[in-house]
Amino acid sequence: MLGFAAACALAGCLAGPETSAPPEVPFAGDGGDVPAMPVIPAGWPAARWPADNPYTPAKALLGRRLFFDPQLSPNGTVSCEWCHAPSAAFTDIHNSGFGIGVFSQPIPRTPPTLINLVFASVLMFEGNVSTLEEQVLLPLFAPNEMGMSGPLVESRLAEDTVYVRLFRQAYGPGPIRVDGVARALATYLRTLVSARTDYDRWKAGEADALSPAAKAGEALFMGKARCFRCHAPPLFTDGDFHNIGLDSVPKDRGRALHTGLPADEGRLKTPTLRNIPRTGPYMHDGRFGDIETVLAHYNAGGSPGAVNADSLIVPLGLSGRELYELAEFLRTLRDP
Ligand code: HEC
Ligand code: HEC
Repeated sequence: MLGFAAACALAGCLAGPETSAPPEVPFAGDGGDVPAMPVIPAGWPAARWPADNPYTPAKALLGRRLFFDPQLSPNGTVSCEWCHAPSAAFTDIHNSGFGIGVFSQPIPRTPPTLINLVFASVLMFEGNVSTLEEQVLLPLFAPNEMGMSGPLVESRLAEDTVYVRLFRQAYGPGPIRVDGVARALATYLRTLVSARTDYDRWKAGEADALSPAAKAGEALFMGKARCFRCHAPPLFTDGDFHNIGLDSVPKDRGRALHTGLPADEGRLKTPTLRNIPRTGPYMHDGRFGDIETVLAHYNAGGSPGAVNADSLIVPLGLSGRELYELAEFLRTLRDP
């Protein structure tokens, strides 16, 4: 007779609705805690967990292991983390401005943060992808990012006994499939939520959580500087696309590459400003090294005569003191 533990290892405890025993702590492979389903503060937009790929601890654990694993590149050098490091709020720590993929090939945009994607309805700077399940496979198979193929992913993972166990735990018995890789990575990414910054504590009623300068900066952000019109709290993005007048003629056509519409020339998805102290260099091409340079760009109203710039991009007339206060506010948008 099989003992409970052995039956569990064979069938996958979490996958089996047939077992009435309470699920034991799932096998993590790396010894870390289970990435929990995030708690969303009251008043925030609803988290988007797709009905066909709901949260399970087993998928979150598998997704985390895959995210940090350089085995997912042909020569074992590049993982998702290579371009999306937790210490830089899931952006590039190499600060090269541009990302560098497998075999040292450059990629034309900087890696964005991966926090709060559980709220996102469109992905990528030009909004050409709508689900995380679809998105996560693009870097995996892009020749200049991770350079893998479906059969290579499947055969490599099937040779690793830890993955065999994690996949069985997540999906039950059966061969390892790329589809399961995508669902697990997407699940892990949806657990990455930023909602515990000094700003959030202040909003929740802790009056001392922000300095007087940061409070003045918040008022500017929500008023004279117009930042909130695109970087709307609490997510600090409107999830929409704008041309912020970086160049007289856009060097990166942005959303127009996807839609072909002249109105979309140079429009890019508004990034969140959460964890902005950690995500530099800034903009899709990493052209600005610090927050002060970003603010100088907005205060000047963008590049002179920028084609197709948003009507909100006009000279702001902010004083040196006001620019300092705005920067102080942005620095509070940082998770502990
Ligand atoms: C070589 C660097 C590189 C690697 C490796 C990489 N990414 Fe990215 N990632 C990028 C860049 C650059 C973008 C922005 C692309 C664009 O919008 O054109 C991006 C965008 C994304 C986005 C969209 C975020 C948003 O806000 O729209 C997600 C999600 C993502 N990556 C997840 C992953 C996952 C998961 C992996 C591993 C399977 C991975 N990335 C590996 C560079 C990389
Ligand atoms: C018209 C909409 C709009 C307004 C108004 C706006 N932004 Fe932006 N912001 C964007 C878009 C779009 C980007 C992405 C541009 C890119 O990647 O090249 C961006 C990028 C940024 C970035 C860089 C983020 C990163 O991770 O690279 C910072 C910082 C920023 N904005 C701060 C501000 C501040 C502060 C204000 C107010 C002074 C402001 N923005 C006003 C749309 C806007």
